[in-house]
Amino acid sequence: MAETAAECAFLDVPYNLAQAELSTRGKVRHPDFVFASGEMSQKEYVAFLSAALGNVARVSAPGAVHFACIDWRHVQDLLQAASSVYGAYLNLVVWNKTNAGQGGLYRNQHELIGVFRVGEARHRDNVQMGRYGRNRSNVWTYPGANGFGAERLAHLAAHPTVKPLQLVADALKDVTRSGAVVLDTFVGSGTTILAGEQVGRRVRAVEIEPRYAQVAIRRWERMTGRTAVCEETGASLDDWLHGPTRRADQNSRDACALLSSSESSGPAASLASEKTPSAASPPRRRVRTRVL
Ligand SMILES: C[S@@+](CC[C@H](N)C(=O)[O-])C[C@H]1O[C@@H](n2cnc3c(N)ncnc32)[C@H](O)[C@@H]1O
Repeated sequence: MAETAAECAFLDVPYNLAQAELSTRGKVRHPDFVFASGEMSQKEYVAFLSAALGNVARVSAPGAVHFACIDWRHVQDLLQAASSVYGAYLNLVVWNKTNAGQGGLYRNQHELIGVFRVGEARHRDNVQMGRYGRNRSNVWTYPGANGFGAERLAHLAAHPTVKPLQLVADALKDVTRSGAVVLDTFVGSGTTILAGEQVGRRVRAVEIEPRYAQVAIRRWERMTGRTAVCEETGASLDDWLHGPTRRADQNSRDACALLSSSESSGPAASLASEKTPSAASPPRRRVRTRVL
């Protein structure tokens, strides 16, 4: 990344669980993630997490804060992996969902978010114990996927593990400046991209599955009313999927997409509904996408 180092990362890693263990019951069924969907041993999963977190730490500024989501079963794996990567373990946040999902003896109503600092430099703290009116504890209460209200079905159809937009937006506001670069190398349906757009941060994101990269691009386009274009070719997603720019070797290159909202000019008007604004002919240059 030949530019400003990242001030923050929001990493919603796959939990090494099959979809049957992840999804809320219902009509929408998703295939397993291609990586870390239960096929890894504990040792392999810890190695995967160490490599993934280490890669992001390498392109982060000293003092950058990384949020890494995990479930209760794998929290030890995350902490083990993180211990070889980070300078400090800052906290363990409990995402307290307003509704419970599936479970065994106890239904699952929380997920965990490890908060880590890259290196030894001081991290940014915009909370400062509420001194400026930003009161935050390490229990974050936001609806889970089955409590997303009117958008619930759309979210469940788009991706099996969509995080609440406001949860990510608030996390970014806690530890970054306006305009900061934020990373998410497991972006799924693009929640971190949208959160960055909402709070005026520049998100660089990676998603391995083309179907979810497309969901992320479409969500961003609906939110902003603009058209995402490929950095290399200038092609939109529609050009890419249906137009003459589609290349013979595209199928193999479809494997991974790097999504970057580098030209963000500030917070978008509204994320609450993610509806298409009525702008007549929206500018095309906004999120740049590069297929790797
Ligand atoms: C837990 S989901 C992220 C969901 C996201 N926070 C959202 O709100 O939609 C993890 C994502 O990481 C992707 N993934 C898994 N392994 C990957 C890898 N090695 N590189 C990039 N993405 C990967 C999966 O396809 C999945 O979409």
